[in-house]
Amino acid sequence: MSDVQQLTDISILRERARHNIENGAVTEGYNADREEILRLLNASLATEWVCVLRYKRHYYMAKGVKAQVAAKEFLEHSEQEAEHADKLAERIVQLGGAPELNPDLLSKNSHAQYVAGNTLKEMVREDLIAERIAIDSYREIIQYIGEKDPTTRRIFEEILAQEEEHADDMADILDGL
Ligand SMILES: [Fe+2]
Ligand SMILES: [Fe+2]
Repeated sequence: MSDVQQLTDISILRERARHNIENGAVTEGYNADREEILRLLNASLATEWVCVLRYKRHYYMAKGVKAQVAAKEFLEHSEQEAEHADKLAERIVQLGGAPELNPDLLSKNSHAQYVAGNTLKEMVREDLIAERIAIDSYREIIQYIGEKDPTTRRIFEEILAQEEEHADDMADILDGL
């Protein structure tokens, strides 16, 4: 038996592409559970926005000379979490869904939590915990997607890599406090 995967005949691909063109990027060959993928994307979108807000709060609240390095990281992270949110929202729309940005639902749908934190140490600790939650949930999502939706998986893989950097940054800062 050949180990080359059987490819769909080009005439069938061409014919299929003409059907349901209102579905845009979602073709008949899309074999993931679209509703479930959209649910996971929206939960992750909520996670990212909660992280944007938490890092923003920590950025504004980080005071004193000792907090300067942390404050710079908080700001950078909040900007990167917002970029993650944009990538997820764009993918949701590509898949025919709608990004859920109702503020009342964000903290409910988010994997990570919003913890204000009083001291710099508490803030950094909570950020590290939130990153670790995001890392585990994104890794699970990537495993769930598998080969079913390579584009969505790649988006999660890119985001996951950056969350791991974030966690590492927070762990370094926590070490010095
Ligand atoms: Fe993120
Ligand atoms: Fe992050």
